[in-house]
Amino acid sequence: MNPSLDVIISRRSLLAGMATGTAAALLSTPALSWTAAEKPSSSLTFSEISHGIDDNHHVAAGHNADILIRWGDALAADAPAFAAGRLDAAAQQQQFGYNCDFVAYMPLPPGSDNSDHGLLCVNHEYANPGLMVPGDLTAGDIAAIMEAHGHSVVEIKKTDDKWAPVQGKYNRRITATTALELTGPAAGHDRLKTAADATGKHVFGTIANCSGGTTPWGTVLSGEENIQHFFGGETTARELPTAKRFGFEKNSEHGWEKFESRFDMSQNPNEPNRFGWVVELDPYNSAAAPKKRTALGRFRHEAATSVINKDGRVVVYMGDDGEFEFIYKFVTDKAYNPADRAANMDMLDHGTLYVAQFLENGALRWHPLVFGQGGLTAENGFASQADVVIEARRAATLLGATPMDRPEDVETNPINGRVYAMLTNNNSRKPDETDAANPRAENKGGQIIEMIPPGGAGRDADHAAAEYTWEFFIIAGDPADRGTLYNANISQNGWFACPDNCAFDAQGRIWIATDQGKWQGQFKTGDGLYAADVTGPGRANARFFYRVPVGAEMCGPCFTPDNKTLFVAVQHPGENSTYNNPSTRWPDFKADTPPRPSVVAITKNDGGIIGS
Ligand code: FEO
Ligand code: CA
Ligand code: CA
Ligand code: CA
Repeated sequence: MNPSLDVIISRRSLLAGMATGTAAALLSTPALSWTAAEKPSSSLTFSEISHGIDDNHHVAAGHNADILIRWGDALAADAPAFAAGRLDAAAQQQQFGYNCDFVAYMPLPPGSDNSDHGLLCVNHEYANPGLMVPGDLTAGDIAAIMEAHGHSVVEIKKTDDKWAPVQGKYNRRITATTALELTGPAAGHDRLKTAADATGKHVFGTIANCSGGTTPWGTVLSGEENIQHFFGGETTARELPTAKRFGFEKNSEHGWEKFESRFDMSQNPNEPNRFGWVVELDPYNSAAAPKKRTALGRFRHEAATSVINKDGRVVVYMGDDGEFEFIYKFVTDKAYNPADRAANMDMLDHGTLYVAQFLENGALRWHPLVFGQGGLTAENGFASQADVVIEARRAATLLGATPMDRPEDVETNPINGRVYAMLTNNNSRKPDETDAANPRAENKGGQIIEMIPPGGAGRDADHAAAEYTWEFFIIAGDPADRGTLYNANISQNGWFACPDNCAFDAQGRIWIATDQGKWQGQFKTGDGLYAADVTGPGRANARFFYRVPVGAEMCGPCFTPDNKTLFVAVQHPGENSTYNNPSTRWPDFKADTPPRPSVVAITKNDGGIIGS
């Protein structure tokens, strides 16, 4: 049977069950799955690794997993070497940052498809001070930790089948103190002005950089995600609604407000409005200031991934990683110009932001976030497009967007043109809050939804359309639990929980990275990377390829154009343990050296295609 037809039947069965009040009975049956008549199959031929948790990483047989760069490694020839147990702001400014998340590989020379020499562009989301330094934090430690955030650009080169960093001219750190620009409809608005910046157009730093994406013109996009953990104090009545919706608290998780006044909302109520954006940076020009593109809206940006639409315009897909938050897309006004890079450099300042509504009949509707339309008016507290983008969450709610189970990465498959949304989990959803696209209460496993633009596959897909359809690809978690959806032939190691990031290989197969967080113990396996076909008899038959050490989440996945190298980021190894008694000392395994978040380069022993 055609697998996608089977999925349609599975989902419609689920909906039918809900409509007749038998959803609970249906959900208590074992895994929903295709009734595939075909034999077990996958185009992926690697031997699966096993579920489990230990202090090391593991990759499928026949592959090498080499440490490419670690937190604290020097990016310049004259930069200080990593010194375990000591934090130093000046040193950290020239060293690879902490908690690597998004990874992009940008070939050298620019615009080429060179798979042996390029720029590794990496986000550094947050820090785990308790694993970085022993004892209580000093103001100096906090200053160094601020420099461990943001982004790194690192030249890398493959020689004799081994990748290594190059201490070259492109290498650059962008941190919590770097000068950035604000552009787009909110730039210069009163709500972005502060005592330090009367223009509302210049901001120091980017933080909470989770995942991201790249653009057709060779820039990198970085999502500012959990900014609410960095600002404390009490805000004004004007900013209270958006601060509440974002989740700001009086005493922030990272406590920076105690060390620097701009992170104290009592003193600087507008400063948080200058964060929570998508940042665009040019890795090929280390002198260019990165830009926060406010047209793409302000929320907890997981990522921002782009696709050239059939008409040449560029569409950027984005998830807002909060329980009951939304999936967005941005459609540029202008078409991409492949002959003139400079003509594309500011096109993310002009376009339309949309938010997704998932209907029970399998339709997906995109609602524009445009000032003056759909209730985004003065009666509802919106005086301009600046207000709409600053309070994108509240605007999207008014438009009827569907509250999702924590949208993470949203990426377009280059072969079939479908858009895959990772919904990581939502433990807060109550039984009476379930809907067609978010069918499980207390959802610990997450799900992957296919959003299907009209027009056809690949470049025929119309990503600017107002109406798509949608299907489930996988409803994740242990298939022994209720309500999961995989290929019927899923193996005991191939199921997973909490999809976060994804990448597609040249054949259009999906590589899914997990972030189980506090449920790592419950699912009895470390996080890792799972690969699956999206079509044919192997559709949704995920296979376990790479596992990270205890405490870590799996980030990154990024292929070189030739698919012979796969870069992955191992974020927060040893999380929830302490400097003096870490649960792992990966990757150095040296006494007195703490675990170090690192980017790993995976290659095949025979130099072939990864996973084949
Ligand atoms: Fe930083 Fe949504 O993961
Ligand atoms: Ca993360
Ligand atoms: Ca993530
Ligand atoms: Ca996550």
